[in-house]
Amino acid sequence: MKLLVIGSGGREHALAWKLARSPRVSRVFVAPGNAGTARADGLANLALTAVPELAEFARKEAIAFTVVGPEAPLAGGIVDAFRAAELRIFGPTRAAAQLESSKAFAKNFMTRHGIPTAAYGAFADARQAHDYLERQGAPIVIKADGLAAGKGVVVALDVSQAHAAVDMMLTEGRMGAAGSRVVIEQYLDGEEASFIVLSDGRHALPLATSQDHKRLLDGDRGPNTGGMGAYSPAPVITPGLHAKVMREVIHPVIAGMEKDGTPYVGFLYAGLMITEDGSIKVLEFNCRMGDPEAQPILLRLKSDLVLLIEHALAGGLDQVEAEWDTRVALGVVLAAHGYPDAPRKGDVIRGLPAPEEDSHVFHAGTALNGKDVVTSGGRVLTVTVLGPDVRAAQRRAYEIAERIRFEGMQFRRDIGHRALAAGRK
Ligand code: AMP
Ligand code: GLY
Repeated sequence: MKLLVIGSGGREHALAWKLARSPRVSRVFVAPGNAGTARADGLANLALTAVPELAEFARKEAIAFTVVGPEAPLAGGIVDAFRAAELRIFGPTRAAAQLESSKAFAKNFMTRHGIPTAAYGAFADARQAHDYLERQGAPIVIKADGLAAGKGVVVALDVSQAHAAVDMMLTEGRMGAAGSRVVIEQYLDGEEASFIVLSDGRHALPLATSQDHKRLLDGDRGPNTGGMGAYSPAPVITPGLHAKVMREVIHPVIAGMEKDGTPYVGFLYAGLMITEDGSIKVLEFNCRMGDPEAQPILLRLKSDLVLLIEHALAGGLDQVEAEWDTRVALGVVLAAHGYPDAPRKGDVIRGLPAPEEDSHVFHAGTALNGKDVVTSGGRVLTVTVLGPDVRAAQRRAYEIAERIRFEGMQFRRDIGHRALAAGRK
């Protein structure tokens, strides 16, 4: 069978790679893809991004099903369009994707369905937002309502910073339409974890746990990014906590979406804050896999992803289980010069190794320039490895990272530090 993956990042490279390993798959098209998906066995890039053209391609090529990587096409309704054309596609409809595309929608949904999250207010009016801030005080968190590519959240440590964030979004309109409404929420302290499941609209199949590193610099300093590295499993999610997340978050979300008439089919990502006393609160939902979390998670997945997605599309996720490599997977992002503010493009990448049983360098912001692979985005590569423990995986990932070279390459040296600290406790 032939499959189609929509997107061009590290997550999509990992998804396409994993799907192509299924013995039933002859080819995975990636639209538009990157230099990694252009060159890998069994994968082919497709230079299309418009939904009608993608649907036409899927029909003509008899694509068995399409998997959508990033949030923007989901929020734009690609699933609705494919379904209307009777094409099989895995992802939430535009209505269901509002869990990610509108923070106010997500907060309102959680409140109505009793899902634990920080107390909040939602405002389109700057005066009311400022008044609310005066009553609440700091620290406090200001979030643009709409999709902002990871740049829409300001964690304000004092009230003047909070007022400035409200002005930036609501008064000056510097986040565009995404910031024409804001959610202001209580500041939460604790450890973050990513909890990702497959949903068929009624049942959820949890994927292996993972943890992301959002800040640019070692020791969780510097600006927020899309993610500088991730590993799986996340020791912070103990078996007890895992059961609690399923009970308090995942099952109520899926039941709530079904009850509201917008059943959720696709990957569902809950960004969680685990507080000191072991309580969980949802920070955000994403309607997709995480990036870079997908890379280590998919490297650990032993089951056939095609089979899991087929069950999800048929409403039978209660009839399958996912099998995981017991090793630790760890991914280190190599980012471009100037990331996250102004990533530079066109730097030639050298020293890329061939994939091995326990390692894979997934491409994200890369492109082909003649014979050269060059940088073409902020997060360029994710060096992803399996190892017997976090320390060994770290060592191996950094050995590979050190051999890869491009001008201005930036990466964190401490991916996995929380798991190492947990191991020492
Ligand atoms: P979000 O996109 O909503 O996950 O927010 C991005 C990042 O901001 C999160 O990964 C957290 O590090 C931080 N953050 C979001 N909401 C809160 C909160 N209520 N309290 C503390 N930190 C937060
Ligand atoms: N790594 C976080 C995300 O994909 O949103």
